[in-house]
Amino acid sequence: MITVGVFDSGVGGLSVVRQILRNLPEVHIIYYGDTARVPYGEKSKEELIYLADIVTNYLLGEGAEIIIDACNSTSAVALDFLQKKYRVPIMGVINPGVKGAIKATRNGRIGIIGTEATVKSGVHRSLLAALKPDFKLFSQACPGFVPFIEKGDVLSSEIYKLATEYLDPLLRENIDTLILGCTHYPFLEPVLAEISGTNVKLVDPAVETTADLKKVVADKISGNNLTKPEHRFIVSGDPDSFKQVANSLPVGIKLKQVESILVK
Ligand code: DGL
Repeated sequence: MITVGVFDSGVGGLSVVRQILRNLPEVHIIYYGDTARVPYGEKSKEELIYLADIVTNYLLGEGAEIIIDACNSTSAVALDFLQKKYRVPIMGVINPGVKGAIKATRNGRIGIIGTEATVKSGVHRSLLAALKPDFKLFSQACPGFVPFIEKGDVLSSEIYKLATEYLDPLLRENIDTLILGCTHYPFLEPVLAEISGTNVKLVDPAVETTADLKKVVADKISGNNLTKPEHRFIVSGDPDSFKQVANSLPVGIKLKQVESILVK
């Protein structure tokens, strides 16, 4: 059985876990949510590299053989660093988001919503410019979303109002595709879909990330593996509130036990 370490600042990376559970039910997941230090989106590049490094190192120590940086903010600024430092496959969520958007768009006008750190990094823009120079990218930082989602609020009138304000400038640009460039945002899909309308395709980078993961694990899994994986969920903050919020979200698994470890 392959053990995949997945990390994020909080519940967001569970949108990636959801796709892994659907498509690769045979892998064992160790999830780390750095809830004591959420939100990551407001941190500097140096802080994000430091946090991604210590969490990766911790997950490898716990037996992870592949790491998924299930956080756009750290994927944007720390992925190269991690890939150079560690010898195991380390995968991020930025390239999959751009790849998914290129497949989805018909008019070449793509929106991306993410944290301040992700939008400021400009990685989606440079990647898209390299792959599809004729396509246009419109970005919007949405710093207000994560605190709501971390509390389990994905449907209130407040979040609806906030989403309307954030999406308005992008919709005016006639985008037909929107990259959910923060792993927390797929949990807002019902609200975002209603505001964007049926002409805008929402791209959850977890889909392409999992497709990439499938290729990486394919040659590592041999024969029929009948052992049912027991996943581990670890947070740096309060395990009970994480469990409660995670179990209120459509992740496809009910968390029974959440460990609490502050990685330093
Ligand atoms: N879910 C993370 C991301 O994809 C981090 C959000 C945050 O903590 O600000 O960027």
